[in-house]
Amino acid sequence: MNVAAPTTSIARAKTAGRPVGAKARIRVKGLGKRYGTLEVFRNIDLEVGDREIVAIVGPSGCGKTTLLRCIDGLLPASEGEIWVNDQRITQPIASVAMVFQHFGLFPWKTVYANIAYGLKLAGATTAEIAERVPRFIAMVGLSGFEHAYPYQISGGMQQRCGLARALAVEPNVLLMDEPFAAVDAQTREILQFELLRIWESRPTAMVFVTHSIEEAVLMGDRVVVLKGRPSGIHETITVDLPRPRSRGTLREPRFAELRERVWGILMSEARAAEFHLEK
Ligand SMILES: Nc1ncnc2c1ncn2[C@@H]1O[C@H](COP(=O)(O)OP(=O)(O)O)[C@@H](O)[C@H]1O
Ligand SMILES: [Mg+2]
Repeated sequence: MNVAAPTTSIARAKTAGRPVGAKARIRVKGLGKRYGTLEVFRNIDLEVGDREIVAIVGPSGCGKTTLLRCIDGLLPASEGEIWVNDQRITQPIASVAMVFQHFGLFPWKTVYANIAYGLKLAGATTAEIAERVPRFIAMVGLSGFEHAYPYQISGGMQQRCGLARALAVEPNVLLMDEPFAAVDAQTREILQFELLRIWESRPTAMVFVTHSIEEAVLMGDRVVVLKGRPSGIHETITVDLPRPRSRGTLREPRFAELRERVWGILMSEARAAEFHLEK
C-alpha cells in the first residue's frame, strides 16, 4: 500500500484537468456569471467525463449553486458556453437532473406524486411512470412510504425522495447541490454510501457540490476548489482512490492525505474570501 506517498504525487492543476471516462459528457467553456453588477465567477473551464464524479468545494457565496443552476439551464450564462453531449444548454433538458439542498419537494404531493411529477416533466409515458416510480422508491429504500407527504417523513427520507425523483429520469448528468447538508451526520453517512452504491450500478456524469471536504474526497474522481469572488477554479485535485468506495476508504492513508491537501487549499481560500466579502 502506498502509505507514505509524497504530497508532490498529488496531481495539481490550475485548470480543471482531464475528465475520467471515454469522453466528456459536460463541457463548460469560459463560463462567466453576473447578477447585475455582482460578478460571481469568470472564465470557468470544466469538463466532466461520462462516468465521472467531479466534486466542487469553495467558500460560501463563491457561486457553487449558481454554477449548477447554469449547467442545469435554469440560469443564463453571462459569458461562455455549456454543452451536454452535443447540445448547447440554454434551458433545462430532460437528460440533466438536479438534487437540491433543501430537497425541493412539493409539500402538497406525496412521495409517489413527487417522483412521478419529475418523470412527467421529462416526457415519460403513463406506463413508464407506473413502472419506474415503484422501482426507484425501492432503490432509495422508501418502500412503504409511497403515500406519505414530505412533512410526515424525516429530512433524510425527504432527500431519498429527491434522489429518486432525479434518478428516475435515468439522467446522463446528475447535479447535486449539497444534497446531504440538511440531514444529521449519521443519516448523511448512510446516504453517501447509498448514493455511491446506486452510482456504481449505473455510473453517470455527476457534479457534486459540498462544503464537506471528506465528502468531496469520498465521492469525487476529482475535487475542484473554487476561490472567492469573483470566483474561478483555484485548483483541481485528482482523487486516485479505487472504486468501489466504501467505509474502508475513509481509513485509507491516501484518503487522509488527499483530505489534508484539499483542506489546506480551501482554508487559505476561505480566509481570503471571508475578508474579501467583509470589505
Ligand atoms: N438570484 C440572485 N440575484 C442576485 N444575487 C444572487 C442571486 N443568487 C445568488 N446571488 C449571489 O451570488 C453569490 C453566489 O451565490 P451562490 O451561487 O448561492 O453561492 P454558493 O452556492 O457558493 O454559496 C452570492 O453573493 C449570492 O448572494
Ligand atoms: Mg449554494
